[in-house]
Amino acid sequence: MRAQLERDFARFGREWPRDFASRVRETYRVNLSARYLGYDLPHPIGKGSGQLSLNASQLEADRDAGLAFVVLKTVIAQDESGAQTMAAWAIHESKMEVERRASASGRTGWTVTWKGRGWDRSFEEYLVLVRAAADLTRSGALVAVPSVKYHLPRLGEPFREAEYRYTTRALAKAWGATPLPLEKDFSPTLSGDALADDRAQILRWLTEVPVQIRAAAPVRLAVKLMNARFDDDFQLQMVEAAKSADTLVVFNRLFDSQRGVAYGGWDLSDRNLRVLDRLTPGASPGLVGTGNIHSGHLILAYARRGCSAVQLHTLFQVPLSEYPAAAGSRTQRVLHKLVFDPKDGLVAGMLDLEATGHLARRDGELHFLDVVADAHRPR
Ligand SMILES: Cc1cc2nc3c(=O)[nH]c(=O)nc-3n(C[C@H](O)[C@H](O)[C@H](O)COP(=O)(O)O)c2cc1C
Repeated sequence: MRAQLERDFARFGREWPRDFASRVRETYRVNLSARYLGYDLPHPIGKGSGQLSLNASQLEADRDAGLAFVVLKTVIAQDESGAQTMAAWAIHESKMEVERRASASGRTGWTVTWKGRGWDRSFEEYLVLVRAAADLTRSGALVAVPSVKYHLPRLGEPFREAEYRYTTRALAKAWGATPLPLEKDFSPTLSGDALADDRAQILRWLTEVPVQIRAAAPVRLAVKLMNARFDDDFQLQMVEAAKSADTLVVFNRLFDSQRGVAYGGWDLSDRNLRVLDRLTPGASPGLVGTGNIHSGHLILAYARRGCSAVQLHTLFQVPLSEYPAAAGSRTQRVLHKLVFDPKDGLVAGMLDLEATGHLARRDGELHFLDVVADAHRPR
């Protein structure tokens, strides 16, 4: 099997196959089936919300490469008059820098530095994208879901219900089916905002935002939690406070208050995995991992802590020389590296778990979701 993996790695680096998950199942008897926000997926790899999901042609390229799911760029909520309390997040900024970043643990990874924030075009244009995403999702070829940032009040202030109502209902109408799948983004730039200085305020948001959204329309809700500027204990309190969500995306990027920018790399995955290690098995909603995922090994590190899928962003933007594939779209090259790398790809990692006695075959197959289920057993 290892020799076959070397051959597939070389071959698929030149020409990416259709339906790679079925090939993996047939060739290696490795079943990569995964779950995101109630959807059954052929494998766990998706694209996190950001600048790489702004239009239908990006979604189509991801579908053609065989990505499992995509989260659309975060739109800033508005009421029927077009007023946005979080308008400061709808700024236009096109320049992104892909940089190396050294971590506290001494390893160097990649981060994307960008001063922009949410969707900066009209809400109507976003609704057009949501219709395209809904069609793709219904076609079964790619799950693509919208993402929103809604009004977040200070303690003692009421929520602007009109924003929640108008935005959620318009998205639900554009989606055209019930329930609307939706991610709610608590972004890292929020961590850098004075709004997020108060722990009680953050915990109130996490408890009440899902209630506000669900009051507007039937939704299946993923809450994407930020890394707050507090300690790991508070991060766990945030998970607890947000448990009425259907899925938690854990955890969005760190915030560098000196440079005033969000960042990732090894500091991000070190922190996320450390906090996930402390979760009580089975006590939280479905988990989806995000943060510095650039190998099958890291996908499995998140899976072993309960994440049934992962969403990446930075790996899609690193220099082309970082991908072992010699040809193909960026999404194809990312999938090639993550799945087939003979040392630290997902297939190799699953075979390693079997070899070390951490994973057993069921009906002759190794199942990715068994790795996730094992995480929920009390350790
Ligand atoms: C340039 C950039 C823009 C992003 N924009 C959003 C966004 O609008 N909404 C959101 O929920 N996450 C956003 N993210 C976070 C990513 O979706 C992802 O969760 C995070 O970067 C961690 O994954 P990574 O280490 O693979 O990049 C953005 C990230 C980057 C680098």
